[in-house]
Amino acid sequence: MSSLAARPPVVVLLGGPSAEHDVSIVSGTAILDALRADGFDVRAVLIDLEAGWWWLPPDHERAGRPQAAYDEPAALGGEGPYTIGQALDRLAAARPAPVVFIALHGPFGEDGTVQALLDAAGVAYTGSGVTGSAIGMDKAMQKRIWRGLGLPVVDWREVSAARWGRDRGAVLAELEAFAAGVGDARLMVKPDRLGSSVGMTLAHGPDERGPALDLAFRYDTLAVVETYLAGARDLEVSVIGTEPPLELYGPGEIVAGHEFYDYAAKYTPGLSETATRAEIPDGLRGTMRKLARDAYRSIGAAGFARVDFLLHGDRPYLSEINTIPGFTPISLFPTMPAEGGLDFTAVCRRVVELALERHAGRVAARLRPSDLPR
Ligand SMILES: Nc1ncnc2c1ncn2[C@@H]1O[C@H](COP(=O)(O)OP(=O)(O)O)[C@@H](O)[C@H]1O
Ligand SMILES: [Mg+2]
Repeated sequence: MSSLAARPPVVVLLGGPSAEHDVSIVSGTAILDALRADGFDVRAVLIDLEAGWWWLPPDHERAGRPQAAYDEPAALGGEGPYTIGQALDRLAAARPAPVVFIALHGPFGEDGTVQALLDAAGVAYTGSGVTGSAIGMDKAMQKRIWRGLGLPVVDWREVSAARWGRDRGAVLAELEAFAAGVGDARLMVKPDRLGSSVGMTLAHGPDERGPALDLAFRYDTLAVVETYLAGARDLEVSVIGTEPPLELYGPGEIVAGHEFYDYAAKYTPGLSETATRAEIPDGLRGTMRKLARDAYRSIGAAGFARVDFLLHGDRPYLSEINTIPGFTPISLFPTMPAEGGLDFTAVCRRVVELALERHAGRVAARLRPSDLPR
């Protein structure tokens, strides 16, 4: 891309101490290969499940290795493990200064934690900052914001693990009343801050609610319980940019091969089908893009994100935003922009470019003693 006149070195962060470790290996190595083929100097840094950081050899490429090969970074010739502090020092000292492409999914990588660490070290990185990332990981927080703005969300209740531990009976009674009000006994029970459908249950009736909450609380201290939208379609919009006008692509559609789009449906090849262009009326397409834009801006997202919808009949509901969506060559996020002429490599390049812009525009004033309000 012309505006990336001098290409910065890129460090792709992949792996990470989350349940989506393996998905991140697929996303991260795809980004690594694409940017390198495009002429970038790219280095892969693998974060293991214990949060140790490993610099893989400068010429490392996936070369068809299974995800499990990344369980043994030393066997890949990795240098490490570095502690977080050592890794940040190394990134901050590198010249020319690199852009960190965060290809991590889920807690730690997508929730503002890594973003805060890189901010503190003064290192440029892709995507949303701390606030956008933290809210983007938090389904309840998104719903509170979107409902407050009058954007359409699926009705929900929140249950804390502490309350569940104290008063199961009251929680179950409240959920009964919630389901009865809707007239459908089925409820979706989810851990608040996770992804890849991990820890989620479609509880078909009262008996299944307790076990569903117990499961959700293995992953988080807050559970979101939603009305089940029977027969809803899974539609997704790609958003790229930081300042308006944002680039909006899609919606594309996922047709889950299971009762809902669970972990197996997401990652078993052939089980679910995707279309980069959903078959919906043009008016609805425009409406959904506007909703995606509003949802993205409302949480303070930057760089890129995927906004997910549930389409129930002809009514679109905002489901969630993913600030680091699946980024594999067959994922919807990086393939929908093809309708605007951006292929996978161009999307990666654009994301790096937006990271540089945001980094250059940050307020990083160093104070002197005379600046203090004494
Ligand atoms: N309230 C709901 N009604 C119907 N289907 C749902 C509902 N909530 C989630 N789903 C299905 O479950 C999938 C995963 O839910 P989601 O909230 O996106 O979790 P994750 O963050 O793990 O991706 C969705 O893509 C959708 O297919
Ligand atoms: Mg989802």
